[in-house]
Amino acid sequence: MKYSIETHDLVKIYDNGFKAVDNLNLFIEDKTIGGILGPNGAGKTTTIKMLTCLIQKTSGDAKVAGFDVSTNPDDVRSRIGMVPQQISLYKDLTVRENVELCADFYNVDQRIKDKKIDDLLDLVNISYAQDKYVNQLSGGMQQKTSVVASLIHNPEILFLDEPTVGLDPTTKRVLWDLMLELNDEGKSIILCSHDMYEVDKICDSINIIDSGKVVANNTPQGLKDQLLKTKEETNKNIRSMILKLEEEGTKGNEEKINHLRASLTDENEKVTVMVSNITDEMVEAVRDLEVVTDAKHVGNGRLNIDLKRSETSVNHVITAILSNGGNIASIKTNDPTLEDVFVAITAKQRTEIKNGRN
Ligand SMILES: Nc1ncnc2c1ncn2[C@@H]1O[C@H](COP(=O)(O)OP(=O)(O)OP(=O)(O)O)[C@@H](O)[C@H]1O
Ligand SMILES: [Mg+2]
Repeated sequence: MKYSIETHDLVKIYDNGFKAVDNLNLFIEDKTIGGILGPNGAGKTTTIKMLTCLIQKTSGDAKVAGFDVSTNPDDVRSRIGMVPQQISLYKDLTVRENVELCADFYNVDQRIKDKKIDDLLDLVNISYAQDKYVNQLSGGMQQKTSVVASLIHNPEILFLDEPTVGLDPTTKRVLWDLMLELNDEGKSIILCSHDMYEVDKICDSINIIDSGKVVANNTPQGLKDQLLKTKEETNKNIRSMILKLEEEGTKGNEEKINHLRASLTDENEKVTVMVSNITDEMVEAVRDLEVVTDAKHVGNGRLNIDLKRSETSVNHVITAILSNGGNIASIKTNDPTLEDVFVAITAKQRTEIKNGRN
């Protein structure tokens, strides 16, 4: 498999002795959008800075577009674009002058330079402000200028470090569409973000970094499925421990059993079904199901149901509604979100560090 990013035991120790990146093994497939998530201080920006040759690694290896960042930094630099977390534009130059400076830095052909700048400014709707000085721009306008500057030399790989922080919802969408469009054209995108919706929406894969290491890696859906599976397995183990204690029947076990019961998580699933021709009989039929712990018609055909989680629970609900002549317009389950995954994984990491297992 070809990777846009490939690191082997990459380490960064800053001059003050702090290890910000700790034997990082990060692989992002070529021509995909790879998301990097992690708590504040996890080492994301430090990693991006090493990959974009802004700072030097302490040890390990890193390749970008197949080139080693230490031995072939010029090959790396010519193939990458970077939208940094801290915008680095010249404040006393105009938008256009900033982009022109970047174009000259990368030796963009003078014959196509002006047209290229026009096209990119248009692409992110910032042409109207091209003669404004950067220090007169809003945060979002600066961010758009930074994106244009990063794309001027048609890079193979685009790094974006929290590019949509503070942007309004419409401007965010402009940037998301742009990332998807660039990816369709065959570019690899590396996106650091704390916006779970954004990452879920546009990334093909996600690496969660914590304390300078990769602690999870999967597709967005894969991460959510993994969380559900882990929870189900944990609950299964807890239930079998409870059963064992109950069978033992030893005095004093009640406290342990209650403690274990309290640690069962998300045993129930909440499902919302919209039924266009809902009747009391349908609600009753759903409520009577063995797998249903509660069902309420909350108006406008919206049926809120609490279910015991199992592979077939939702099937039973659908069958009960259909067999009573119901028309199901939509079903929504409360499956885990990427935010749930993030919180669960980083909390687990905290506990392991506290217990000295990391
Ligand atoms: N120049 C530096 N010298 C010493 N320590 C640094 C330096 N730059 C960053 N650090 C430390 O390295 C760690 C990782 O910082 P980094 O900026 O890579 O985190 P991050 O994952 O990008 O966080 P955020 O989500 O807040 O942007 C932090 O503890 C930070 O204080
Ligand atoms: Mg950062």
